[in-house]
Amino acid sequence: MNLKALRKITYGLYIVSSRDADRLNGQIANTVFQVTATPPRVAVCLNRENLTHDFVSKSGIFSVSVLEQETPFKFIGLFGFRSGRDIDKFKEVEHIIGKTGAPIVLAHTLAYMEFEVGGKMDTGTHTLFVGELRGAEIIKEGTPLTYDYYHRVLKGKSPKKAPTYIE
Ligand SMILES: Cc1cc2nc3c(=O)[nH]c(=O)nc-3n(C[C@H](O)[C@H](O)[C@H](O)COP(=O)(O)O)c2cc1C
Repeated sequence: MNLKALRKITYGLYIVSSRDADRLNGQIANTVFQVTATPPRVAVCLNRENLTHDFVSKSGIFSVSVLEQETPFKFIGLFGFRSGRDIDKFKEVEHIIGKTGAPIVLAHTLAYMEFEVGGKMDTGTHTLFVGELRGAEIIKEGTPLTYDYYHRVLKGKSPKKAPTYIE
């Protein structure tokens, strides 16, 4: 079996955000994909050890920000390699609060969606959350950042907590 075959699956790169009362948090995720059109539903796959996972589990709401290709590496590092358990990621990052109450990152964002959790599946290390669409807006036109661009052009690595991590 050649695990490198899995690397041929393509993804985008997103910030998934949620809250616990007054605390806001978000994380980078590549595993975001639409699963049904009517009604519109989107799935996200989050590591059980991530703070964002705890917030989505507790609050039942989350948002997805679609990142632009020009997103600086440092910004990806803030949301993708640091945990909200140690820092306040939203402190100096442009954001709004959506109609569901979920925080939504606007910095380096082309479009956003917000959801209520409609179902979830335990996948072992991760939980697959399925969100029911409650709001969506386009912020600006541009090219969305892809997982392939992140690896090939930005030379970024995937942390072990990404579901698509390969040693
Ligand atoms: C390129 C990239 C892709 C990632 N994809 C995912 C993902 O799909 N799911 C996931 O749970 N973590 C993913 N991560 C890891 C989380 O973003 C990371 O563990 C983060 O520090 C969790 O933050 P939190 O503890 O504040 O929630 C990814 C990270 C990077 C850099």
